[in-house]
Parts: sequence; structure tokens; C-alpha cells
Amino acid sequence: MDFHRLTCKSNHEWCGESDLKPVNVGLLGLGTVGGGTLNVLVRNATEIARRAGREIVVAQAAAREYDPAALDGLDRVELTDDAFAVVKNPQIDIVVELIGGYSPARELVLEAIDNGKHVVTANKALIALHGNEIFEAAQAKGVTVAFEAAVAGGIPIIKALREGLAANHIEWIAGIINGTGNFILTEMRDHGRGFAEVLAEAQALGYAEADPTFDVEGIDAAHKLTILASLAFGIPLQFDKCYTEGISEVEPQDVEYAEQFGYRIKHLGVTRRTGQGIELRVHPTLIPERRLIANVDGVMNAVLVKADAVGPTLYYGAGAGSLPTASAVVADVIDVTRSLTMDSENRVPHLAFQPSELSDQSVAAMDDVETAYYLRMTAADRAGVVAAVTGILGDAGISIEAMHQKQPHEGESEVPLVMLTHSVSERQMNAAIERIEALDTIRTRVTRIRVECLD
Ligand code: HSE
Repeated sequence: MDFHRLTCKSNHEWCGESDLKPVNVGLLGLGTVGGGTLNVLVRNATEIARRAGREIVVAQAAAREYDPAALDGLDRVELTDDAFAVVKNPQIDIVVELIGGYSPARELVLEAIDNGKHVVTANKALIALHGNEIFEAAQAKGVTVAFEAAVAGGIPIIKALREGLAANHIEWIAGIINGTGNFILTEMRDHGRGFAEVLAEAQALGYAEADPTFDVEGIDAAHKLTILASLAFGIPLQFDKCYTEGISEVEPQDVEYAEQFGYRIKHLGVTRRTGQGIELRVHPTLIPERRLIANVDGVMNAVLVKADAVGPTLYYGAGAGSLPTASAVVADVIDVTRSLTMDSENRVPHLAFQPSELSDQSVAAMDDVETAYYLRMTAADRAGVVAAVTGILGDAGISIEAMHQKQPHEGESEVPLVMLTHSVSERQMNAAIERIEALDTIRTRVTRIRVECLD
């Protein structure tokens, strides 16, 4: 590249006279993220070119539905409704897949790779389920598949794990990695709003997945955690081994009782090295309210990484939305552009570790995971009930840290009983809960929420 030409302009603006031809991007999808990506590439074209060393232009885009009024520079883009035409187009250097879902995204990405194109995707479902196959194909073809936007929207957590923390032995990661779920929990807590109403707002704002059960049942967070675990520990992607629980069972009273104990409820993805294997789990979690991550609200995401050399580091930012996600997509496009002239073996490996060095360390069975617990049950308001419950916990070797019997609701003879336990294995807790639920004085299922101190 001719740096003289770059620097000789008196106004220091990109002169567009690089010896290198512009890089042609083929966009698949012009929805929330695709539209944001086009707009950022157009809006910041000059600075992006100064960073990348050459111009980056969206040459072609495939979309069935889009809003022309919300898109910049559309007149310079060749439009088609055939995404396969884009991945086969010999003029396209980088395919940016932003249609989401498993299929035809998988077929499109594999076809793009087969045609020698680099790929940028925000598709966490695709990477979590088919990443091993996709990276193998990319490796064989000498192309890159970049996926920064797949986890935590605009937060550069993939770059941090793969490059910034490359010196470290990573011990654990805990993250709020679903913006929609965090938005719902925050609105429930702060404004007492109903679940369905807040979810509808998250959908209108473009935060939620096409199928919002992915957000509320924890599947989206499990996709993202699967990716983080592979990058942190150098293991193949294993979405099927991720324990997944969403926020649909969290009730406003749990949020309130948790606060009385000094905790916040957050939907957390946790992955940790242990003697039993690698923990891989997403579920609602009580976190002490004094922790920074307990105060991450709304659609914001945060990922806390504990590594041996640097200690804990926390990454915070917008986890969803058009422009924040586009920020990560475009950063990947720039990265790929910079590495176009580099030998493929010298590029940063897809999963942070060299493909031949991935470890076969197993994912721990959920039964072996140890955490503290919050328990809530509805008990008959009579003598001996609490003793029966604590007796069962004591028999199971479960030690109680705090316990409250709440006031019965007016005219009712049943009382909510809430408690915090010390750390115990999931297996022990399951057995104890089964015995508690069998008591005739316990009138509902026991609600259990895991507790993480994150210290
Ligand atoms: N539905 C996702 C979320 C979008 O709410 O976090 C970003 O991945």
C-alpha cells in the first residue's frame, strides 16, 4: 500500500487512491443488524478505509424485506433476493451473513467458503451448533470466518479472549449475555412491569430473537456461552452439553426476596474449569448486589473473565441492537480486510487455540456442579413445618445460611418460606428438593435459583 499517498493529503482525509482495489462486501440480510452494518460502513467509510488500508464497499446485498428509508447508500448496492447469488458472485471478497438461524445460513456460509470467500457472521446459533464444521472447512480453504458480533453485541469480548488475554490461563467466565432477558428482569424489578409487556417492547426495539423463546428460555445465552467456553479453554464447540434454564420461571416475589437478602437476580452464563470437567451452564442466578455485574441493567451485557495473570476483567456494553451489533460486524470486516494479504496459517485461530491443539477435556455433568442456592416454597402455616424442611436439608448435608418465613397473604393459611444455603452439589440439592416436595405441608414446587458470589 502506498502510505505516501495516504499521508500526503493536506486535509489528512483518505484519498481513495490506494494501490489496492476496494474490498467488496456481499451482505446477506438488510434487517436490524444488516441495515446497521450498511449504515456504519457508509457513514464511517473514510475512517474505516484509513484503518483498513483500503476502501470497503457493499457491492451486493441479498434481502427479501427491507426499509429503503432507513438505509444509507442503497443506490450504490446491487440488490437481489437470491442470497446464493451473492455467495457465488466472483466480485465479492467478504460475505457478511446477517440473516440468522441455522438454515439456510449454514449452507450459505459453507458455499461462500467453498468459493474462497471470507465470512463475517453475527449468527451465534450457527457458530454454536455448526462452528466446528464451518471452521474446519474454512481452515481447509485458507479463509477466515469472523464472528465477534455473535457474542455480547458490540462488546469486543471475542477479541479480548482470543488476543488480549492470550497470555493467561483462564479460570472462569460469568456473563450477562442476553440483552432481552436482562431488559425483562430489570423492568420487572424497577418498574414492576409484566413479562409479556416487556418482551413485546424488546421485540419492537429489535433486541429479541426472531423466536423470542430463544431469549427467555436461555437458548440464545447458551449459544453464546458455548462459544466463550471454546475460546477460553480451547475445546470444540459443544452446545448440546450446555445446561440451559431461562428466566420464564422467575417471579417478581423472587426478585423482591433476593433483594432482601442483598442479592440481584441476573440471567448468567457460567463456564469454569473444575476437577470434574468444564462447567457450561446458563440459568437465573443470585449475585451479591455490591458486585459490578449485578448492576448491569437493561439491554446492556457484561462479561466477567477471571484469568490467572491479569486477574478479573470486566467487559461491558450494549449486547443487542442495530448499531452496537453492526459495530462488531464492521470491526470484523476491517480485521479480515487487513489480513487479506497474510498467510492463512498466520491468522488468529478461529477458536483462539491452534486447531490441532484443541483439548478433549469433557464438559462436567450438571449433577456435579456445586453452587449455593436460594430456595422458595409455600408451606402450611403450622408447627413443625420448618423443622421438617431443615431436617431434610440437614440429612443431605446442606447447610442453611439464612432463612425467612414471610407473612401469610391475607386470609391465607400458607406462608412463603425462603432461604439461602451454602454451596452443595446439584445432585444433593435435587435429592433434598424431591423429599421436601413430597411433604404434605409443602404446597407448591420448590423454586430454586443458584447463587454465585463471583469473588
Ligand atoms: N436476542 C439477543 C439478545 C440479541 O437479546 O441479547 C443479541 O445477540
